[in-house]
Amino acid sequence: TKAGNGIQASFTVCLGDITELKVDAIVNAANCRLSGGGGVDGAIHRAAGPGLLEECKTLNGCATGEAKITKGYNLKAKYVIHTPGPQGEYPKLLENSYMNSLNLVKQNHLESVAFPCISTGVYGYDFERATKVALYSVRKWIQENGESTPNMHIYFCTHNRSDFDFYNDTIVKVFKF
Ligand code: APR
Repeated sequence: TKAGNGIQASFTVCLGDITELKVDAIVNAANCRLSGGGGVDGAIHRAAGPGLLEECKTLNGCATGEAKITKGYNLKAKYVIHTPGPQGEYPKLLENSYMNSLNLVKQNHLESVAFPCISTGVYGYDFERATKVALYSVRKWIQENGESTPNMHIYFCTHNRSDFDFYNDTIVKVFKF
């Protein structure tokens, strides 16, 4: 869906496994050591193969809310953007994860990116509150950067039906299609 409001970008809410998406970059809900883990992090490392962990080890970790980029290895996505979200409900840090990931998308001249629902699993952020932070953060980034990245396509990848339904309900309110 193309947003109204003069917002220059397209959005898709998906349901399923983010590792299946053929986009320029998928975002990984990582930890600060970039050491792999469970959840979406584990799924991404399994699908990418061992080269991903090798490259991650060279990056010296990543602070909460910051983001680092690697190649995608065996994934369909060309790149992986690793961002550790907050452990607990710290909206500013969660916003930073979305904004810094999008900054890397722009710096690398990419045009499509898929986000998982960062911090809503092991890190314990309430799903509905995290969704609002995610969508308002992306809206803010597009308002600040959309003119210079007019072909940006942003995917929000949910992992179960109720999360998918909540994203769809909320995205229409936040972007006022
Ligand atoms: N595709 C898309 N989404 C997924 C997938 C998948 N294959 N697997 C899990 N998810 C969803 C979960 O349903 C949840 O909504 O990803 C969301 C984030 O959950 P986690 O993966 O637990 O991430 P997070 O809460 O940010 O915790 C990060 O978990 O595995 C560790 O190394 C990671 O320590 C870090 C922590």
